[in-house]
Amino acid sequence: MKEKILVTGGTGYIGSHTVVELQNSGYEAVIVDNLSNSSLDVLDGIASITGVKPAFEKIDCCDLQGLETVVKKYPDIKAIIHFAASKAVGESVDKPLLYYRNNLLSLLNLLDLMNKYNIPNLVFSSSCTVYGQPDTLPVTENMPVKPAQSPYGNTKQIAEEIIQDAARADKRLKSVILRYFNPVGAHPSAAIGELPNGVPNNLIPFVTQTAAGIREYLCVFGNDYNTPDGSAIRDYIYVVDLAKAHIAALERLLANGSRQDVEFFNLGTGKGLSVLEILDEFEKATGVKVKRKIAGRRQGDIEKVWADPALANRELGWKAETATQDMLISAWKWEQKSNIVKR
Ligand code: UFG
Repeated sequence: MKEKILVTGGTGYIGSHTVVELQNSGYEAVIVDNLSNSSLDVLDGIASITGVKPAFEKIDCCDLQGLETVVKKYPDIKAIIHFAASKAVGESVDKPLLYYRNNLLSLLNLLDLMNKYNIPNLVFSSSCTVYGQPDTLPVTENMPVKPAQSPYGNTKQIAEEIIQDAARADKRLKSVILRYFNPVGAHPSAAIGELPNGVPNNLIPFVTQTAAGIREYLCVFGNDYNTPDGSAIRDYIYVVDLAKAHIAALERLLANGSRQDVEFFNLGTGKGLSVLEILDEFEKATGVKVKRKIAGRRQGDIEKVWADPALANRELGWKAETATQDMLISAWKWEQKSNIVKR
């Protein structure tokens, strides 16, 4: 029998790609999602890639009773991969309470149920935002967590602490916390991808929408950073590579292979690219020009960050493998398709 894995936020961007990889690896995914930032069509997208439509429960993870009905309905859940969260940095500044409630209450509810129903394994989505602007690069997992720049970032820091405290108190609980760098791109089939709500905040959806003529031009936020071309540097990781890391993390937990009750891994490529370099790579890969203007720095942005992924490479046996241009081509393919379907 296939092992059942509960995936909260499984119709979202990273969640849906992970469900595909779970199914491709022989697991049965049960998705819990409130569809606040995703749609039921994603289930068809997943089915068109894997041949299997995953089980789906429309539940908000802040609803403890609702969540408990799911855990009772599927009594043999072996692990939980917890993606469900609000993730827009700017919005979190305007609506901090919403972010603390959504991101922390959902986690507390899950941990309560994991304890009550003896589900010992948790894979948790964290972010490189916990490092702030690191003093040295690349960033390793043992670098200090810096004061959060936004309520969103703070929810990730607090969530990491909650999980560690919960694991100290409940010896059965094991967790792998994955600190994502900048996830980009879409499944190569273009059956699933990122669906930003309204005007995108993130670079790649803005690039593809500008290339598609939906946005007039892209603002390059800052050209006076202390970087070779003056624009800010990030570690862009392909979403399918990122999804595969969740399977590696899950299998480590299921095999009881963790060295500690709670482990942290950076998920990045190890390579930093500037905004201008990304635009260059996109134009080379697709042959489509992206109109841009140099604008002032965006508030709250850091100058540069990229991962040292050596620990994940070694311990999870996982590596980000996809070339930058391939990630960007997948994003462009998805943009063109979602353009037809959604707009
Ligand atoms: N950028 C532009 N123009 C745009 C959009 C972005 O120049 O229109 C720049 C940003 O200033 C930044 C880079 O592109 O230098 C990447 O920006 P994103 O918004 O795509 O990503 P961030 O690095 O700001 O944010 C990501 C995640 C967050 C996470 C954060 C941690 O989206 O969830 O990393 O640093 F919290």
